[in-house]
Amino acid sequence: MIAIENVHKQFGPLHVLKGVDLTVQKGEVLSMIGGSGSGKSTMLMCINGLEGIQQGRITIDGLEVHSKATDLNKLRRRIGIVFQQWNAFPHLTVLENVTLALRKVLGKSKDEAEMIAIEQLSHVGLKEKLAVFPSRLSGGQQQRMAIARALAMSPDYMLFDEVTSALDPQLVGEVLDTMRMLSKEGMTMIVVTHEMRFAREVSDRVAFFREGRIHEIGSSEQIFDNPEKPETAAFLKSI
Ligand SMILES: Nc1ncnc2c1ncn2[C@@H]1O[C@H](COP(=O)(O)OP(=O)(O)OP(=O)(O)O)[C@@H](O)[C@H]1O
Ligand SMILES: [Mg+2]
Repeated sequence: MIAIENVHKQFGPLHVLKGVDLTVQKGEVLSMIGGSGSGKSTMLMCINGLEGIQQGRITIDGLEVHSKATDLNKLRRRIGIVFQQWNAFPHLTVLENVTLALRKVLGKSKDEAEMIAIEQLSHVGLKEKLAVFPSRLSGGQQQRMAIARALAMSPDYMLFDEVTSALDPQLVGEVLDTMRMLSKEGMTMIVVTHEMRFAREVSDRVAFFREGRIHEIGSSEQIFDNPEKPETAAFLKSI
């Protein structure tokens, strides 16, 4: 379980997260929606400890992310993160890109790393692309490679930050299909997205961020069909 309690995040004078409370249960899919600058990406960065916080607490299965006593590298291995764009190593093949962390971080042998990487690349439909260089992949295939790379580390949680927003419309579907498959398999996921139809379909709950706070949170039916707050309704109408 991910537990976020009264989290405040400031970049210098800029107060970006203003007391966020949220828990995400094992197996749950939570979508974060909200306008540009509302703090969604920052929230994800704080969850996996890429950013520090000024107040509050984030715990992952009881381990406090921002505590000095926590081995952050170890904790991060349990959290896969996929961004809008991932700069794969251009001089490494798809297979090598996915095996890299398995070998360097987890210390797996070449054979074992390849076995795991091939399994995950097959899982996301890239079995035919093992020996190809990333520049030869479509945008959607690159994003699926990034997902396979994260999955190869066998994370307990997956965080997605607008993974389809840099893609041509016809490539969005294949990436969303991959995420849909993961949610069906029971992966615990936090998904920042502008794809409202997708969010509605896969999310157990949806959190609407506004000005650094969760302005409204509820089941996807609640948020999309029956938002309580006028700002939520206005946001949904605008997009
Ligand atoms: N490293 C940083 N240093 C300073 N300010 C930052 C930094 N990262 C983000 N911010 C600021 O924090 C605020 C929240 O940004 P954030 O990226 O979390 O928004 P977002 O909800 O993800 O927006 P979008 O939908 O556009 O991706 C913005 O005002 C942004 O300029
Ligand atoms: Mg963002």
